[in-house]
Amino acid sequence: MRVLHVAAEVFPLVKTGGLADVVAALPVALAEQGADVRLLLPGLPAVMEGVQGARTVVDVGACFGALRVRLLLARLPGSKLPVYVIDAPYLYRRGGSPYQDGAGEEWPDNLQRFALLGWLAAHLAAEDADPQWAPDIVHAHDWHAAMACAYVAEHGPTRAATVFTVHNLAFQGLFPMHDWPLLGLASRLMSPSGLEFHGQFSFMKAGLQFAHHVTTVSPTYAHEIATHEFGCGLDGVIRSRAGSVSGILNGIDDAIWNPATDPAIAQRYDAERLAGKRACRQALQAELGLQPDPQALLLSVVSRLTAQKGLDLVLAALPALVRAGVQLVVQGTGEPALEAAFAMAQQAHPGRVHVHIGYDEARAHRLIAGADGIVVPSRFEPCGLTQMYGLRYGTLPLVRRVGGLADTVVDASDEAVTRGQATGFVFDAATPAALERCARRALELHADARRWAAVQATAMAQELSWTGSARQYLTLYQRLAQAH
Ligand code: ADP
Ligand code: GLC
Repeated sequence: MRVLHVAAEVFPLVKTGGLADVVAALPVALAEQGADVRLLLPGLPAVMEGVQGARTVVDVGACFGALRVRLLLARLPGSKLPVYVIDAPYLYRRGGSPYQDGAGEEWPDNLQRFALLGWLAAHLAAEDADPQWAPDIVHAHDWHAAMACAYVAEHGPTRAATVFTVHNLAFQGLFPMHDWPLLGLASRLMSPSGLEFHGQFSFMKAGLQFAHHVTTVSPTYAHEIATHEFGCGLDGVIRSRAGSVSGILNGIDDAIWNPATDPAIAQRYDAERLAGKRACRQALQAELGLQPDPQALLLSVVSRLTAQKGLDLVLAALPALVRAGVQLVVQGTGEPALEAAFAMAQQAHPGRVHVHIGYDEARAHRLIAGADGIVVPSRFEPCGLTQMYGLRYGTLPLVRRVGGLADTVVDASDEAVTRGQATGFVFDAATPAALERCARRALELHADARRWAAVQATAMAQELSWTGSARQYLTLYQRLAQAH
């Protein structure tokens, strides 16, 4: 089974969120189960500098407004995974994020930058980009890679079937109609049954309409996006694909997120050696200047600071939570108003609240290892990885019952704790009061060391690796390849 994963980010080279973690780990897990997997990435500066052994596969020449485009084949650092890289300096060699300039504005040529990504995937599928290798499955991730599905569909029969995974329906890749000719696609696709979306056209819709199968990153999110509430205007399209949409839960990368081997934390530990976790907690309190209070419930947040993540609820509930015995450590970047509000929260609660506005992988490990709990009160959450990191590290998640959060955390009701099934704390309403009640239940359980430890043990024993999910993807690939 030859599989081409197409994406804009991959950890550790380029990462703006969980997408990069998934694109790094899933192909490796598939390869471990015998698949022949390659990646296709845009040649952003960190990718061009980070990959090893690059050689030219084909000189594409001028396209999508770039004079020089080459397809390279290289390897990811520290991995055997072959990766195709699109070297198109005019489109990709620039600072800022993959999607936005330094001022936070979308790159004005994102249409060309990501259409090229999908177009080259389709050429690989058509067996004319690399004479040595062509995929049976093209697996595109999020709107950045979605055009692969439209180009493959338009090309006429290829041997490749397409899978499109929605990691976040809220980001859609919308472009003005007058730019349609840049895509080089038939004008009949510029219609409601094609890519048209309220007078614009949508890359996300290209994936949803044309992929042979659509997946999302949790079963609950797969149901949610078929509803008006979570569908971001595309729920009708998703309902129309009913039998071809399913959810496969993400895993986490055990080589990177494992307290027994984690080089970033103060002391390594596992479920049998929890003294190491206590050492991590003390070290974190000392590092951040928090009161060395062993009774406090030390909660953490590691997150993009955006409306999606519901962190305004944490801000609103914070004074009451601090009075009740909570300490809070936050690490994140994002919307300036949220950054400012968290910085003020730190000033208002010295010794109880610590906020770091910034992005830092090693520090994220120290926060998650040292905290008692991790708060993820998202308004919507396709999967969410940090609550799973929390489970792995015995750092109990406090989450809203949406998307992948609902699928990964079992609420510590008295009954669930007694039955040994509880792994965290779940609340429903997106209100500060509901979050506060949830945190008060966590405080209560935390005061009962024995019951807390029992829930920690259940959390740490959860099967969160990629093995099972990779198997589900392989089954899907096999079914599609046979039907194709
Ligand atoms: P999303 O992709 O919606 O941001 P996920 O929970 O799937 O949410 O993934 C977020 C990823 O980004 C996790 O690996 C998390 O540890 C990481 N992350 C988010 N913010 C930061 C930060 N400020 N510093 C370090 N890592 C971060
Ligand atoms: C998106 C989602 C997040 C998910 C991640 C990886 O960024 O917001 O919930 O975990 O993709 O699939």
